[in-house]
Amino acid sequence: MELTSPVPEAPVIPATAPDDPFRLKPDVMQRLDLAAEFGRPNPVELELGAGDGSFLIQYAAARPETNFLGVERLLGRLRKIGRKARRGGLQNIRVLRLEASYVLRFMIPAGSLAGIHVYFPDPWPKRRHWKRRLVNAAFTGHAQATLAIGGTVFLRTDDVSYFTQMTEVFGANPAFVRVEEPAELLAVKTDFEQEFNARGIPTNHAAYRRVS
Ligand SMILES: C[S@@+](CC[C@H](N)C(=O)[O-])C[C@H]1O[C@@H](n2cnc3c(N)ncnc32)[C@H](O)[C@@H]1O
Repeated sequence: MELTSPVPEAPVIPATAPDDPFRLKPDVMQRLDLAAEFGRPNPVELELGAGDGSFLIQYAAARPETNFLGVERLLGRLRKIGRKARRGGLQNIRVLRLEASYVLRFMIPAGSLAGIHVYFPDPWPKRRHWKRRLVNAAFTGHAQATLAIGGTVFLRTDDVSYFTQMTEVFGANPAFVRVEEPAELLAVKTDFEQEFNARGIPTNHAAYRRVS
């Protein structure tokens, strides 16, 4: 008989740079103790697919009272975030090298987040690959579970079909209402966004607040 597991295997990636103070190396089978990891119980915002931290660094510098957790699977990009955070003297950033949906689903405590930022996630433009997209109906459920009431998901993409999917899945979840993003948030452009905008490709953006 084939055994099936209700939980996907944890995608553990070997630890490197053990001296990096920004990099968390938690037990992937446990939910994070966010207050302990940041050394203070302040509101936490999560960025999934943080790249080299173009958003995270700027936004964290502007909001020192908020704790920011960045998730990125590529080590080189993660190290860049650490270097920039160190140079900027930022105390409110931590990073995790893990698979984004795994972190949201299995490692973030229920109701613990003030915000989730997802900027220019891999678009998977071919229809047969759409099932690989990070933002789907299940994602809205995990966002609902991890955001505090009043917490907000912020989404940006250059890909029109992915944006349609994002707005459809969040529009279909009654726990969320669409809200306007603050101007100071929209003013912070990510690296990918700057590249796309420079080529004349506009940013599609939307935000959804958890209301129930
Ligand atoms: C197109 S880039 C966008 C980076 C950044 N958000 C920006 O706008 O500049 C997508 C990023 O997500 C990361 N990524 C893609 N899939 C991921 C996953 N499943 N888990 C963690 N990171 C992922 C990639 O390595 C890449 O750095």
